[in-house]
Amino acid sequence: MNRAWRDLLRAVGAGFAGLAGLPLAFGTVVSLPICPVALAMIRLDRRVADWHRRRASEILGTPVPSPYSGPPRRDEAATWRDLAWLVASFPLGIAGAAIAGGLWIGALECLFAPLIEPFAPPGVFTPLIYEVDSQPVAWLTVLAAPIVGLAAVTVPGLVNRLRARLATALLAPTEAERLRIRVGRLAASREIVVDSSAAELRRIERDLHDGPQVRLVSLAMQLGIAEDLLDDDPALARKMVVDAKGSAGEVLGELRDLVRGIHPPVLADRGLPGAVEALALNSAIPVTLDLNVPGRLSPAIESAGYFVFAEALTNAIKHSGATLVTATITHDGSTLVVSVADNGRGGAEPGAGGGLRGIERRLSAFDGRVTVSSPVGGPTVVHMEVPCVS
Ligand SMILES: Nc1ncnc2c1ncn2[C@@H]1O[C@H](COP(=O)(O)OP(=O)(O)O)[C@@H](O)[C@H]1O
Ligand SMILES: [Mg+2]
Repeated sequence: MNRAWRDLLRAVGAGFAGLAGLPLAFGTVVSLPICPVALAMIRLDRRVADWHRRRASEILGTPVPSPYSGPPRRDEAATWRDLAWLVASFPLGIAGAAIAGGLWIGALECLFAPLIEPFAPPGVFTPLIYEVDSQPVAWLTVLAAPIVGLAAVTVPGLVNRLRARLATALLAPTEAERLRIRVGRLAASREIVVDSSAAELRRIERDLHDGPQVRLVSLAMQLGIAEDLLDDDPALARKMVVDAKGSAGEVLGELRDLVRGIHPPVLADRGLPGAVEALALNSAIPVTLDLNVPGRLSPAIESAGYFVFAEALTNAIKHSGATLVTATITHDGSTLVVSVADNGRGGAEPGAGGGLRGIERRLSAFDGRVTVSSPVGGPTVVHMEVPCVS
């Protein structure tokens, strides 16, 4: 019954949309010589055509994508097919709505014929092809109600499918349009990959500059002073060399961290899900993972996601007192989302020099966003989104 109701609503909806289609198409054609008006009309046509596409894809259960590859143009084939459909949707929509509405009204009239008959003026009440003008005829007509009812339940769905098929024939992109859209998408994704590699390079350069480079400079100075002191005060010089050795060990450690930070080997080998699983396995508190990342992403994006997860998990272990960490990592083809929640005490606050600030900085390079929600008393949720195409 639900389905019958939905079919009726769809048929009536298409009827109204069809009513709008003809004036819209007419208005567009009339406005064609006036550029700005025409473009505004075409934009409107596209919206209405997209509405028809969504309805058709609902009815048929297959996606009907838009064929447009840029801003509205008067000389685009898709524009003309949209117009053709708007014109066609007028009779098709109205006919479909009339059939669906007529069948339902007919079924109800048959069912209630004995009640309606006494009040109907002569020559008017014809729920079927004959006039119902007496009670016996009215009762006979009730027998037809199930048949008309069955038609009311089934026919509108068929009419809707037929209309959706015609719509798809006109409104779905042609092979050439599909190809053009795909090329556009690939170009955009290539740009994102190039951009994110450049951003990653900038970050590495900055990290090298702020960390090891500064320390190596001061190490060289320390050794220079020690050299000067070697003859006059060997004891002090010796102490400075020992200090310098300690600093050298620290720089080494920093460099090692940095290299690990550039691209952890497990990330290169097993991708984001594998690397995240490895971290979760070694975690001091239990971690529930919900991973949905089909295929590989660009290395820079993978490491961005990895570091957000790693930082949020480390924070949960270090600061939160939580007993459970829940993380979801999903990639839907255009955006990578990493969300890490702990059930600890909350109150996380990104501060200068902290890890949370660090991931904010890292993500801004990719046009990504990270939000930290951490009311006092918990829970803490770190949520990251980065646009990327796999
Ligand atoms: N999951 C969390 N639960 C409770 N407090 C947190 C959490 N994460 C971070 N904090 C608090 O926010 C501060 C800032 O975190 P962060 O920027 O990661 O710096 P760091 O971890 O280096 O101290 C932490 O010092 C801690 O007090
Ligand atoms: Mg931290």
